[in-house]
Amino acid sequence: MTHVRDPEMVVRPRSVERLVVGQATSDGAGVKLTRVLTQPLQRRLDPFLMLDAFRSDDPGDYLAGFPDHPHRGFETVTYMIAGRMRHRDSAGHEGLLENGGVQWMSAARGLIHSEMPEQEDGLMEGFQLWVNLPARDKMGEPWYRDFAAREIPVFTTASGATVRVIAGESHGVAGAVTREATEPLYLDVELPPGARFTQSLPAGHNAFAYVYRGEIRIGETAVPRQRMAILAGAPEADGVVVEAGGEPARFLLIAGRPLGEPIAQYGPFVMNTQEEIYAAVNDFREGRLGATRP
Ligand code: FE2
Repeated sequence: MTHVRDPEMVVRPRSVERLVVGQATSDGAGVKLTRVLTQPLQRRLDPFLMLDAFRSDDPGDYLAGFPDHPHRGFETVTYMIAGRMRHRDSAGHEGLLENGGVQWMSAARGLIHSEMPEQEDGLMEGFQLWVNLPARDKMGEPWYRDFAAREIPVFTTASGATVRVIAGESHGVAGAVTREATEPLYLDVELPPGARFTQSLPAGHNAFAYVYRGEIRIGETAVPRQRMAILAGAPEADGVVVEAGGEPARFLLIAGRPLGEPIAQYGPFVMNTQEEIYAAVNDFREGRLGATRP
């Protein structure tokens, strides 16, 4: 369902604090990807812990997939632009994520899952975002939901922006997911050449944009494809204004309320202290992490 919405009122837009180039890496059983949000940025972009981008039409880059591996202490959000990936976890959930679909998984106290491609050729493109959980929820019940593309609310603006609202709220449209502690906003915005998009953002929330088609401008700063723009957090700023360059542009706009808690990470475990990390590693080694009751 598509609705045409007027622009949101933004009087004092945020500027770009810095541009970040992603780092080529591989993860899982050898899947090639670009790590856009890396560990040194976790404090600056609290509550976000990681953003990976993947795009390849070479099956050798993705076929190995992500066989069984654990998570504890945070949430993973996988957004598939193109391709098919099957998810299975120790809590008994199974789902097929494809073209435009989103999987939101709260690992909380822990689960073991696999994320495996269900295609032998063709393009695979998408993103995985890690969102931290507050200390009080890290050992809560795991939670999981799949959203097909048609279940992601979408609207267009008078200037021609098409906006998919994965989480949070934009122009009065509520997203597929609402999370209380971190209040994440997760938008996928498509702009025709020269079009403009405005989004209000709470002043205290950390925010960034990642461009994956064309080029955008935020204030004085041109943001080319495959760059993340970290938005400055001036206390009087009330949102962001984005303009497309001379070709169609597409970008993710992500923002959230910082938790302000200590971050202790060891691979797929993100807790508050080293002791909790040791406990996670022990629980995993002794087979308690994916169990119904640890
Ligand atoms: Fe995973």
